[in-house]
Amino acid sequence: MTLSPSDSQPSPRENYENRRMATIAARWDRKAEQWDRDLQDPSCHLNEDQAYRRFLDQLAAVIEPRRQFCRAHGVIDAGCATGLVLAEIVASFAWGIGIDISPQMIRMAQAKHLPAASFLLGDCFELSAICPKAGAVLSRGVLLSHYGHRHGEALLHRARSALVPGGFIVWDFLNQSGRANFQHTPENKTYFDPAQVRGMAIAAGFRTAKTLGEPERRVCLLLAECS
Ligand SMILES: C[S@@+](CC[C@H](N)C(=O)[O-])C[C@H]1O[C@@H](n2cnc3c(N)ncnc32)[C@H](O)[C@@H]1O
Repeated sequence: MTLSPSDSQPSPRENYENRRMATIAARWDRKAEQWDRDLQDPSCHLNEDQAYRRFLDQLAAVIEPRRQFCRAHGVIDAGCATGLVLAEIVASFAWGIGIDISPQMIRMAQAKHLPAASFLLGDCFELSAICPKAGAVLSRGVLLSHYGHRHGEALLHRARSALVPGGFIVWDFLNQSGRANFQHTPENKTYFDPAQVRGMAIAAGFRTAKTLGEPERRVCLLLAECS
């Protein structure tokens, strides 16, 4: 039997399951140039169910009652890509650091020269070794669903280790019960039940874990706080 190139190449899911960082980074490098334009395009699948706008709105609602705490501490954006999320929220914090494994994404983010923000090439699984401790660690773009059951809890554990006492995370994920409602339903990513994600956060050492977003949503958010 002859193998076609696609037969012999590991699938994106396998790349995440086996944490093949160079391959994952190369894939995101190829998307960097177009990333901001895609997110600005309402018809792009990234905006299905207004996932990007809803993340920012829900994040603003989380920050509001924690204004003073946020102003006194930094924020880390895990898997920051071109820095769009940090650009929106860094002013609510003392400083911001974006971490991404894609050199092209980091280059584009750095070129924006955002005040009080810096962007570092690095792996979120090594977050606490790369960054000073922060008041919040954010991640938008369903990183949990990319890394799936096998690595999700470890990712959350690393995020918790990067927090000051009383810190919190807001991370989005693909929502199992909303799956049938949308056109774009990638087979290579993990859809979670919100209760599973809350369980992962508690297992990763968070004191509280809540999920935000209605059951029919394509993407929901995890809000977890540490002691
Ligand atoms: C869906 S994009 C999200 C981009 C960004 N958060 C936004 O909202 O525009 C996922 C990003 O995570 C990055 N990424 C994937 N695995 C990573 C890891 N282990 N450490 C750091 N970044 C990672 C990718 O390079 C990519 O830029």
